[in-house]
Amino acid sequence: MAIREIVIYPADILKRPCQKVENFDDALKTLVEDMAETMYAAPGVGLAANQINVDARVFVIDVAEGDECELHVFVNPEIVAREGEIEWEEGCLSFPEMLVNVQRSQKVKVRAQRVDGELFELEAEGLFAVAVQHELDHLNGVSLADKVGYLRKKMMLKDLQKIKKKRHIEE
Ligand code: NI
Repeated sequence: MAIREIVIYPADILKRPCQKVENFDDALKTLVEDMAETMYAAPGVGLAANQINVDARVFVIDVAEGDECELHVFVNPEIVAREGEIEWEEGCLSFPEMLVNVQRSQKVKVRAQRVDGELFELEAEGLFAVAVQHELDHLNGVSLADKVGYLRKKMMLKDLQKIKKKRHIEE
């Protein structure tokens, strides 16, 4: 297992749809393990494959509180039902030190595959549902920068430049 480098917006890979996973092989298992390790180390509650520069429809989520650990892996996910509305102040590992208010569905039903290819369905609500929608957005090339107006986006890009520079100097 390895902690991978997290891609910061506006990297191209964050702006285009990811490809469907066709091979449920050892490489996929390793990818998922690395994604989980990278997410926990960050720490974050969700991570999409393109956030570590991998073009694949995979994301991991863990919204368990405190020391609990409850890893959910979604391969080729799709939302098949939605209900209600919720507004959440969302962060994103590709937008460090930023929060954006986003309107989401309060409840979602997701259909996806496990790391071995087995199909499953799951219902999520609240923070879990928000995380599913946020990560699925990533796989479709959509991120927090697409949830704000033109001026806010410009400001976010400027701030991200500064953050990247600062991190580069610290390294
Ligand atoms: Ni994100």
